[in-house]
Amino acid sequence: MTLTSPSDPGGFRAFEHAGWRKVASGYHDHFESLTSQAVAPLLDAVGVRPGARFLDVATGPGYVAAAACRRAAHVVGIDFSDSMVAEAKRQCPEAGFLVGDAEDLPFPDGGFDAVGTNFGLLHLAQPEKALREMYRVLRPGGRAGFAVWRKPEEAVGFGIILRSIETYGDLNAALPAGPPFFRFSDPEECRRVLRSAGFRDPEVLPIPQVWRLPSPDALAEAMLAGTVRTGGLLRAQSRVALPAILAAIRDGVRAYENNGVFEIPMPAILASAAKA
Ligand SMILES: C[S@@+](CC[C@H](N)C(=O)[O-])C[C@H]1O[C@@H](n2cnc3c(N)ncnc32)[C@H](O)[C@@H]1O
Repeated sequence: MTLTSPSDPGGFRAFEHAGWRKVASGYHDHFESLTSQAVAPLLDAVGVRPGARFLDVATGPGYVAAAACRRAAHVVGIDFSDSMVAEAKRQCPEAGFLVGDAEDLPFPDGGFDAVGTNFGLLHLAQPEKALREMYRVLRPGGRAGFAVWRKPEEAVGFGIILRSIETYGDLNAALPAGPPFFRFSDPEECRRVLRSAGFRDPEVLPIPQVWRLPSPDALAEAMLAGTVRTGGLLRAQSRVALPAILAAIRDGVRAYENNGVFEIPMPAILASAAKA
C-alpha cells in the first residue's frame, strides 16, 4: 500500500460502499452525538451564511446539511450510500440529497460558495481525487473544509479498540487494503493535500470532542453497528480472540467513567482552505 492510495482503489471502494449501505441506521443511532460536535466549526470555517450555496460531501445522515439549512443556506448533500441518503432525507427534508461519488461529483464547475466533508475524507479510496473535485465545484474565493480524527493516542475510542485488538487479536486481519485511516491526523499532511489540490492558505484547527457513552459495552457496540473498517476489523477477529478483545475494550472504557457516564476523548482536526 502506498501513502496516497490503495493498490486496488476499486476493491476498497466496493468494500466501503457495501458496508455503508448496511450501517446507515446503526451509524445514526451511535454517532450523531459525536460527529455533530464538529459541524458548527466546519460550517464556520467554510463560511456558511444565509443564502450561501453549500455542498455536504459524504453527508451520511445529513448532520452538516441540516445545520447548514438552519443557517438558511441553499444545501445539497451527496453520499454514495443510498441508505445514508434515505436517512438524510428523513433528517432534513428541506435540503437536496443525491446518491453519488465524492471522487466524481455530478456538478458543474464553480457552482458552490462552500463545500465541506465531516469525517468523510478518511473513508475514501482516493481522497486527493475528492479534494480536486471539491476544488472544481467551488467558485473562485469559495472555501472547502474537512474534519478528520486525531491519532488514536488522542482519539481515545480508537486507541482502546486498536490496543485491545493488538493485544488479544490480529490487527492485520484480512480486509481490503485502504489508505491509512489516520493519515490526515497530521496537520502538515492536511495542508499539503489541500495545497496540492490547488487550494491556498490552508488552516488547521483542533476540535476537542467528547463521546458520552452510556455503558462500557457501548464503544464496541457503536463500532460494530455503525462503522465499516473498524467494525470490519472487529468482525474479522477469530471466535477465540473476540471475547478477550471485547473484555479489554470494556475495561478501557471503564477508566473514563464520570458519574455513570463514560466520557471518551475523541478530538478531531478541522482543515480548511480557499479556492484561489
Ligand atoms: C463516517 S460517515 C460521515 C457521515 C457524516 N458526514 C457525519 O458528519 O457524521 C462517512 C460517510 O462517507 C460516505 N462515503 C464513503 N465513501 C464515499 C464516496 N466515495 N463517495 C460518497 N460518499 C462516500 C459513507 O457512505 C458515509 O456516509
